[in-house]
Order: sequence, then C-alpha cells, then structure tokens
Amino acid sequence: MSDLGLRQEFPLLAARPELHFLDTAASAQKPRVVLEAEREFYSERYANIHRGAYSLSVEATDAYEGARARIAAFLNASPREVVFVRGATEAINLVAHSFPGGWREGDEIVLTEMEHHANIVPWQLAAQRSGLVIRVVPVTEDGRLELGALDRILGPRTRLVAVGHISNALGTLNPVEHLVRRAREVGAMVLVDGAQSVPGRKVDLAELDPDFFVFSGHKTYGPTGIGVLVGRNDVLPKMPPYQGGGDMIAKVSFEGTTFKLPPGRFEAGTPNIAGAVGLARALDFLEETGLDRIEAHERALAVEARSRLLQLDGTTVYGPEDVQSGIVSFNVAGVHPHDMATVLDQQGVAIRAGHHCCQPLWHRYGVPGSARASFGLYNTMADVEALIEGVQAAQRLFA
Ligand code: ALA
Repeated sequence: MSDLGLRQEFPLLAARPELHFLDTAASAQKPRVVLEAEREFYSERYANIHRGAYSLSVEATDAYEGARARIAAFLNASPREVVFVRGATEAINLVAHSFPGGWREGDEIVLTEMEHHANIVPWQLAAQRSGLVIRVVPVTEDGRLELGALDRILGPRTRLVAVGHISNALGTLNPVEHLVRRAREVGAMVLVDGAQSVPGRKVDLAELDPDFFVFSGHKTYGPTGIGVLVGRNDVLPKMPPYQGGGDMIAKVSFEGTTFKLPPGRFEAGTPNIAGAVGLARALDFLEETGLDRIEAHERALAVEARSRLLQLDGTTVYGPEDVQSGIVSFNVAGVHPHDMATVLDQQGVAIRAGHHCCQPLWHRYGVPGSARASFGLYNTMADVEALIEGVQAAQRLFA
C-alpha cells in the first residue's frame, strides 16, 4: 500500500501537483476539513469563552471545551488533564517553570542525546535558575538509547526523565514504558515529547502512563499556535501557575489572588480558541484515516527510501535499521546537506537540511547535520522516486 489517496484533501498539495513535500516532521500540511472547521468556527460560533453571559459565548465555550474532551479521548486521558498551550515547546517550558513541589539545588534531570532543543534548553534555563544537574543518556551508533547507561545515571537525586517519544532527527521510537518503569523505581517523574509520535501512530496515555506528555498541533495536521500539555490529574494540581492573567483565577484582590484548578490555572488570557477547534478536527481526520494505516504507510515509504538511499554510493542513513517511523535522515559523501536540499528543491522536492534543532546529536555523529526526508500520510512512492532522483542529481553535481 503506497498511497492512502489523501493528497487531494490538502488544498496546498492539490494546488501544487509538482511538489514532493517531504518535511512533515517540521510541520504538516493542513487538510481541507481543518481549514473548514476554523472557518466555520470564526464565521458561525465565534466569541470569547468562559466569560459571556450570552448564548454565542456559551456556544464558543462549548466548542473549546469540546475540543479539549476530544483531545483527551484521542489520547485516552481525562479532559481535566489536558492543558492548551502554544505548542510542545511551551508545554515543556511550563513544566520546567512550574515543576510540582519546585526544584531543589542538586536535583537531576535526565535527558537523552537525541533530544531536540525544545527538550534541552528549557531544562538548561531551569538548571541555571535552580542549581539543577542535567545528565544525558547517550545514543548508540545505530540511533538507540543506551539503556545500560540510563540505569547508571538514574539515582536518588533524579527528579525527572524527559525524552522524545520519536526522535525528529533519527526516527527512533523510544521505549517509553521501560523508561517510565525505571524512573518510577527511583521516584522520578517522566515527560514524554510526543511531537513526532501523535501525528503518525496510536498513542494511549493510560498504557504509557507518563506524568507529562506534550505535542504540537501544527505537526499533527492542525493549526499553528496550538499545542497540548497532558499532565496526570494527581500531578497538575500540585503545580503553581505558569503565567498570570484573566481566566486562570478564582478570586483576585490587591491583598492576594487564588487560582482555578487545572487545566484553567494554566490558561491565562484568551487562548487560541479556533486553534483548539481546528486541532480537534485534525485528530478526527487522523482517526477517520486510521492511525494503524498511517503508521504502516509512512513506515513503508521510509523503508523504501532508506533501502534505495543505501544502494547509492557514499550514503549514510542514520537511525535504527528496523525503521520505526516516517523519518529518514541521511548524508551523502561530498554533498553538504544544504546543497542537497537546494538541488532537491530545484526538482520540486522539499526536505529539511541542517541540525534539525538537535545539535548535540550531530556532534555525537561527528557531522554538522544531515538531510532529512520525513513522510506524512499524503506522501506516496512517487515522492520516494523523486527523492532518489534528486539525490542522484546532487551526487552528479557535487560528489
Ligand atoms: N522540530 C522540528 C523539526 O524536526 C522543527 O523539523
């Protein structure tokens, strides 16, 4: 099965038949139903939420809270565990800022060598503020976590393990259940960054059971500027507010202010109401398409791309041999990733090139970065063909 037949559902792709869009891991294109859901919300049900005494505001509130319930059901969580934020990055910053019980000097945070910057820098800022120690689980040559090293790193000072579910640079699917089990044994919490997993596979949070889970709307075929933090319902109430403002308070006076229970406590000001509605529609679209089908389809394209790339002279493909997602990172001897992306662009193939916001990972491999093709549900084997032809063209020019 090399075509889910969905390209025409995406107005941008339908309008550009020559485009081979292979950068879905950076941001996914939007299906018509998502654009339509936002348009319909703004044109028929729009008002501010949680404030109105009039029925239009109640309708808008119902749409927003309905989106929250939809997202909770999609991930097998409870609506009161779902906090709307701007994206995965803001969700991680929120947890770093408002960590339950607060940080104590010498607390340890465990990251992995394959994290992207959004799951490194917020912890570094917290470490600078509060005297924390960051420890890093190394990555093996074939792009997996060194789990033996994790066992040595975890200890009584570990407060949190923060890990990507699927690596945006390597495509590795990390063993979250194992990490959660090991972290709990030392009394630590776990944050899972699902930015690359939610768009392409079934995620069941009751099964994975992390303390925190984050993802972004824009990578999930939804709008930009909306994302989600899921925090367990016994954890979120222990966290102080992240930002102050309207709609997150219970009572305000100049003597002092009390706050709403979560999730409202973490949603100061007017949120991205239409974004939440659009994201909920995107998740419907994923379910209508079938998450198992999407996963198998994207993996099949990545398997083909990986094996075809390896047949070419001088190529290195990073990440596990048993392909685990739709992400294929590679380098070709003698061709800088940026030159590769430029030649491919001239052939209508859009890929990402560079460090993919994962500079420490590329340092580990001794290269400045890679070229990365990432497949989405709208891609087909024709896109793989175009990729391979483009890589060969780059080789003729540079290698
Ligand atoms: N994290 C995004 C990517 O992998 C931006 O491209």
